[in-house]
Amino acid sequence: MVKYISGKYKIGDQIASTIFNIIEDLKNQNIRFNNYCEPFLGMASVLKNIIPLLGDKYTYCVGDAHEALMMMWQDAKKGKRKSFPEYVDRNLYEELKSQERPSATKGFVGFQNSFRGSYFVGAYFDQTPNNRNKIDEVMEIGRLMNNSDTKLSNCDYSNYSNLKNSIIYLDPPYGGVHNEFSDENGHIKFDYKIFWNWIKNMSRISKNNIIFLSEYNVPEEYINKVSLVWEDSKGKEKLFMIIP
Ligand SMILES: C[S@@+](CC[C@H](N)C(=O)[O-])C[C@H]1O[C@@H](n2cnc3c(N)ncnc32)[C@H](O)[C@@H]1O
Repeated sequence: MVKYISGKYKIGDQIASTIFNIIEDLKNQNIRFNNYCEPFLGMASVLKNIIPLLGDKYTYCVGDAHEALMMMWQDAKKGKRKSFPEYVDRNLYEELKSQERPSATKGFVGFQNSFRGSYFVGAYFDQTPNNRNKIDEVMEIGRLMNNSDTKLSNCDYSNYSNLKNSIIYLDPPYGGVHNEFSDENGHIKFDYKIFWNWIKNMSRISKNNIIFLSEYNVPEEYINKVSLVWEDSKGKEKLFMIIP
Protein backbone atom coordinates (compact mmCIF):
# COMPACT_ATOMS: atom_id res chain seq x y z
CA MET A 1 0.00 0.00 0.00
CA VAL A 2 1.40 3.40 -0.98
CA LYS A 3 1.95 5.89 1.83
CA TYR A 4 1.15 9.57 2.03
CA ILE A 5 0.78 11.85 5.00
CA SER A 6 -2.98 12.67 5.34
CA GLY A 7 -3.60 10.63 2.17
CA LYS A 8 -7.10 9.33 1.43
CA TYR A 9 -5.91 5.81 0.56
CA LYS A 10 -8.57 4.01 2.60
CA ILE A 11 -11.49 6.29 1.72
CA GLY A 12 -10.65 7.47 -1.82
CA ASP A 13 -13.16 5.04 -3.34
CA GLN A 14 -15.98 6.31 -1.10
CA ILE A 15 -15.18 9.95 -1.85
CA ALA A 16 -15.04 9.21 -5.60
CA SER A 17 -18.36 7.35 -5.64
CA THR A 18 -20.10 10.06 -3.56
CA ILE A 19 -18.96 12.71 -6.05
CA PHE A 20 -19.93 10.51 -9.00
CA ASN A 21 -23.45 9.85 -7.66
CA ILE A 22 -24.06 13.57 -7.14
CA ILE A 23 -22.85 14.31 -10.70
CA GLU A 24 -25.18 11.61 -12.07
CA ASP A 25 -28.15 13.14 -10.19
CA LEU A 26 -27.34 16.57 -11.58
CA LYS A 27 -27.14 15.13 -15.10
CA ASN A 28 -30.81 14.17 -14.74
CA GLN A 29 -31.51 17.86 -14.09
CA ASN A 30 -29.49 18.77 -17.20
CA ILE A 31 -26.59 20.22 -15.19
CA ARG A 32 -23.34 19.01 -16.74
CA PHE A 33 -19.60 19.46 -16.41
CA ASN A 34 -16.80 18.56 -18.78
CA ASN A 35 -13.63 18.68 -16.69
CA TYR A 36 -12.36 17.17 -13.43
CA CYS A 37 -9.68 18.99 -11.44
CA GLU A 38 -7.74 17.99 -8.32
CA PRO A 39 -5.33 20.77 -7.24
CA PHE A 40 -4.04 18.93 -4.12
CA LEU A 41 -3.18 15.63 -5.76
CA GLY A 42 -0.90 13.95 -3.20
CA MET A 43 -0.89 10.19 -3.86
CA ALA A 44 -3.93 10.47 -6.17
CA SER A 45 -6.21 8.28 -4.03
CA VAL A 46 -9.37 9.97 -5.30
CA LEU A 47 -8.23 10.51 -8.90
CA LYS A 48 -7.47 6.82 -9.40
CA ASN A 49 -11.01 5.92 -8.32
CA ILE A 50 -12.82 8.68 -10.16
CA ILE A 51 -11.28 8.29 -13.65
CA PRO A 52 -12.89 4.84 -14.14
CA LEU A 53 -16.25 6.24 -12.98
CA LEU A 54 -16.35 9.47 -14.99
CA GLY A 55 -14.65 7.99 -18.06
CA ASP A 56 -13.48 9.63 -21.25
CA LYS A 57 -16.23 12.26 -21.56
CA TYR A 58 -14.16 14.42 -19.20
CA THR A 59 -10.80 16.14 -19.42
CA TYR A 60 -8.62 15.86 -16.32
CA CYS A 61 -6.16 18.33 -14.80
CA VAL A 62 -4.34 17.73 -11.53
CA GLY A 63 -1.57 19.47 -9.62
CA ASP A 64 0.32 19.78 -6.39
CA ALA A 65 2.76 22.34 -4.95
CA HIS A 66 5.25 19.56 -4.17
CA GLU A 67 7.80 19.52 -7.01
CA ALA A 68 9.38 16.08 -6.45
CA LEU A 69 5.93 14.50 -6.04
CA MET A 70 4.81 15.86 -9.41
CA MET A 71 8.08 14.72 -11.01
CA MET A 72 7.25 11.26 -9.71
CA TRP A 73 3.79 11.40 -11.34
CA GLN A 74 5.26 12.70 -14.63
CA ASP A 75 7.56 9.67 -14.80
CA ALA A 76 4.79 7.26 -13.80
CA LYS A 77 2.58 8.71 -16.56
CA LYS A 78 5.41 8.16 -19.06
CA GLY A 79 5.78 4.55 -17.86
CA LYS A 80 9.30 5.09 -16.52
CA ARG A 81 9.34 2.30 -13.95
CA LYS A 82 13.12 2.51 -13.60
CA SER A 83 12.80 5.84 -11.79
CA PHE A 84 11.50 3.96 -8.76
CA PRO A 85 13.95 1.76 -6.83
CA GLU A 86 12.71 -1.56 -5.46
CA TYR A 87 15.30 -1.78 -2.69
CA VAL A 88 16.03 1.29 -0.63
CA ASP A 89 18.59 0.78 2.10
CA ARG A 90 19.52 3.42 4.62
CA ASN A 91 22.47 4.62 2.49
CA LEU A 92 20.36 5.26 -0.60
CA TYR A 93 17.72 6.92 1.55
CA GLU A 94 20.25 9.30 3.14
CA GLU A 95 21.89 10.00 -0.21
CA LEU A 96 18.56 11.00 -1.79
CA LYS A 97 17.58 12.99 1.28
CA SER A 98 20.79 15.06 1.02
CA GLN A 99 20.28 15.86 -2.68
CA GLU A 100 19.32 19.49 -3.04
CA ARG A 101 17.48 19.05 -6.32
CA PRO A 102 14.12 17.32 -6.47
CA SER A 103 13.72 14.32 -8.76
CA ALA A 104 11.14 11.63 -9.51
CA THR A 105 13.22 9.10 -7.56
CA LYS A 106 13.51 11.42 -4.59
CA GLY A 107 9.75 12.10 -4.72
CA PHE A 108 8.95 8.40 -4.67
CA VAL A 109 11.42 7.37 -1.94
CA GLY A 110 10.76 10.49 0.17
CA PHE A 111 7.15 9.47 0.68
CA GLN A 112 7.27 5.69 0.37
CA ASN A 113 10.31 5.00 2.55
CA SER A 114 9.78 7.62 5.25
CA PHE A 115 7.92 6.95 8.47
CA ARG A 116 4.19 7.80 8.10
CA GLY A 117 4.75 8.83 4.47
CA SER A 118 6.04 12.21 5.61
CA TYR A 119 8.58 13.45 3.03
CA PHE A 120 12.04 12.86 4.57
CA VAL A 121 10.68 14.24 7.86
CA GLY A 122 9.94 10.92 9.45
CA ALA A 123 13.01 8.67 9.69
CA TYR A 124 13.95 5.96 7.19
CA PHE A 125 11.36 3.22 7.50
CA ASP A 126 12.41 -0.25 6.37
CA GLN A 127 9.57 -2.48 7.53
CA THR A 128 8.60 -3.40 3.99
CA PRO A 129 11.37 -5.49 2.40
CA ASN A 130 10.91 -3.96 -1.03
CA ASN A 131 8.88 -1.39 -2.88
CA ARG A 132 7.59 -3.64 -5.65
CA ASN A 133 3.89 -3.43 -4.71
CA LYS A 134 4.09 0.32 -4.24
CA ILE A 135 5.77 0.73 -7.62
CA ASP A 136 3.00 -1.39 -9.19
CA GLU A 137 0.38 0.92 -7.68
CA VAL A 138 2.14 4.10 -8.78
CA MET A 139 2.65 2.72 -12.31
CA GLU A 140 -1.01 1.69 -12.54
CA ILE A 141 -2.13 5.22 -11.61
CA GLY A 142 0.40 6.56 -14.16
CA ARG A 143 -1.21 4.33 -16.79
CA LEU A 144 -4.67 5.70 -15.91
CA MET A 145 -3.28 9.26 -16.17
CA ASN A 146 -1.78 8.48 -19.56
CA ASN A 147 -4.90 6.80 -20.96
CA SER A 148 -7.12 9.66 -19.81
CA ASP A 149 -4.60 12.27 -21.02
CA THR A 150 -4.56 13.84 -17.55
CA LYS A 151 -2.69 17.17 -17.49
CA LEU A 152 -0.17 17.28 -14.61
CA SER A 153 1.17 20.54 -13.18
CA ASN A 154 3.49 21.44 -10.35
CA CYS A 155 1.70 24.55 -9.13
CA ASP A 156 -0.20 26.35 -6.44
CA TYR A 157 -3.96 25.66 -6.38
CA SER A 158 -4.60 29.30 -7.37
CA ASN A 159 -3.30 28.46 -10.87
CA TYR A 160 -6.69 26.86 -11.49
CA SER A 161 -8.58 30.12 -10.92
CA ASN A 162 -9.88 30.30 -14.51
CA LEU A 163 -11.61 26.93 -14.48
CA LYS A 164 -15.23 26.73 -15.59
CA ASN A 165 -17.70 23.84 -16.01
CA SER A 166 -15.52 21.71 -13.75
CA ILE A 167 -15.82 19.24 -10.93
CA ILE A 168 -13.18 20.38 -8.45
CA TYR A 169 -12.12 18.12 -5.58
CA LEU A 170 -10.09 19.89 -2.87
CA ASP A 171 -8.02 18.06 -0.28
CA PRO A 172 -5.80 20.77 1.21
CA PRO A 173 -3.70 20.41 4.36
CA TYR A 174 -6.29 20.30 7.15
CA GLY A 175 -7.08 23.60 8.85
CA GLY A 176 -6.38 23.94 12.54
CA VAL A 177 -3.75 21.19 12.61
CA HIS A 178 0.00 21.48 12.12
CA ASN A 179 0.83 21.64 8.40
CA GLU A 180 3.22 18.77 7.88
CA PHE A 181 3.82 19.18 4.15
CA SER A 182 7.36 20.05 3.25
CA ASP A 183 9.57 19.93 0.18
CA GLU A 184 13.13 20.96 -0.75
CA ASN A 185 12.32 24.53 0.36
CA GLY A 186 10.93 23.58 3.77
CA HIS A 187 7.32 23.69 4.89
CA ILE A 188 4.67 24.35 2.26
CA LYS A 189 2.81 27.29 3.77
CA PHE A 190 -0.93 27.55 3.57
CA ASP A 191 -3.17 30.57 4.15
CA TYR A 192 -6.75 29.46 4.93
CA LYS A 193 -8.26 32.93 4.61
CA ILE A 194 -7.00 33.26 1.04
CA PHE A 195 -8.08 29.68 0.34
CA TRP A 196 -11.67 30.24 1.46
CA ASN A 197 -11.86 33.45 -0.59
CA TRP A 198 -10.67 31.44 -3.59
CA ILE A 199 -13.41 28.86 -2.99
CA LYS A 200 -15.98 31.67 -2.83
CA ASN A 201 -14.79 32.99 -6.17
CA MET A 202 -14.62 29.55 -7.83
CA SER A 203 -18.16 28.66 -6.73
CA ARG A 204 -19.80 31.69 -8.37
CA ILE A 205 -22.81 30.52 -10.37
CA SER A 206 -21.46 32.11 -13.56
CA LYS A 207 -18.45 29.72 -13.47
CA ASN A 208 -20.61 26.59 -13.35
CA ASN A 209 -18.17 24.65 -11.17
CA ILE A 210 -19.11 22.10 -8.55
CA ILE A 211 -16.69 22.03 -5.64
CA PHE A 212 -16.07 19.27 -3.09
CA LEU A 213 -13.85 19.66 -0.06
CA SER A 214 -12.31 17.22 2.40
CA GLU A 215 -11.98 18.95 5.78
CA TYR A 216 -12.53 18.20 9.44
CA ASN A 217 -14.33 21.47 10.06
CA VAL A 218 -15.53 24.52 8.19
CA PRO A 219 -14.99 28.10 9.46
CA GLU A 220 -18.07 29.54 11.20
CA GLU A 221 -18.67 32.20 8.54
CA TYR A 222 -18.90 29.56 5.76
CA ILE A 223 -21.09 27.07 7.60
CA ASN A 224 -24.19 28.05 5.56
CA LYS A 225 -22.23 27.80 2.34
CA VAL A 226 -21.53 24.05 2.55
CA SER A 227 -23.49 20.86 2.71
CA LEU A 228 -22.12 17.68 4.28
CA VAL A 229 -22.40 14.94 1.64
CA TRP A 230 -20.38 12.12 3.24
CA GLU A 231 -18.61 11.26 6.48
CA ASP A 232 -16.84 8.17 7.74
CA SER A 233 -18.30 5.92 10.45
CA LYS A 234 -16.39 7.82 13.16
CA GLY A 235 -17.60 11.21 11.89
CA LYS A 236 -14.00 12.36 11.54
CA GLU A 237 -13.34 12.40 7.80
CA LYS A 238 -15.91 14.56 6.03
CA LEU A 239 -16.72 15.57 2.48
CA PHE A 240 -18.48 18.89 1.94
CA MET A 241 -20.07 20.25 -1.19
CA ILE A 242 -19.89 24.00 -1.63
CA ILE A 243 -23.24 25.69 -2.21
CA PRO A 244 -22.88 28.37 -4.91
C1 LIG B 1 -4.00 16.19 2.28
S1 LIG B 1 -2.78 16.13 1.01
C2 LIG B 1 -3.61 15.48 -0.35
C3 LIG B 1 -3.73 13.99 -0.22
C4 LIG B 1 -4.35 13.30 -1.41
N1 LIG B 1 -5.75 13.62 -1.58
C5 LIG B 1 -4.21 11.78 -1.24
O1 LIG B 1 -5.19 11.09 -1.04
O2 LIG B 1 -3.07 11.32 -1.28
C6 LIG B 1 -2.55 17.82 0.65
C7 LIG B 1 -1.63 18.11 -0.54
O3 LIG B 1 -1.66 19.51 -0.79
C8 LIG B 1 -0.38 19.92 -1.26
N2 LIG B 1 -0.33 21.37 -1.08
C9 LIG B 1 -0.12 22.08 0.05
N3 LIG B 1 -0.22 23.41 -0.20
C10 LIG B 1 -0.53 23.52 -1.53
C11 LIG B 1 -0.81 24.63 -2.39
N4 LIG B 1 -0.76 25.90 -1.94
N5 LIG B 1 -1.14 24.39 -3.69
C12 LIG B 1 -1.17 23.11 -4.17
N6 LIG B 1 -0.90 22.01 -3.40
C13 LIG B 1 -0.60 22.23 -2.10
C14 LIG B 1 0.60 19.10 -0.44
O4 LIG B 1 1.84 18.96 -1.10
C15 LIG B 1 -0.15 17.75 -0.34
O5 LIG B 1 0.23 16.90 -1.36
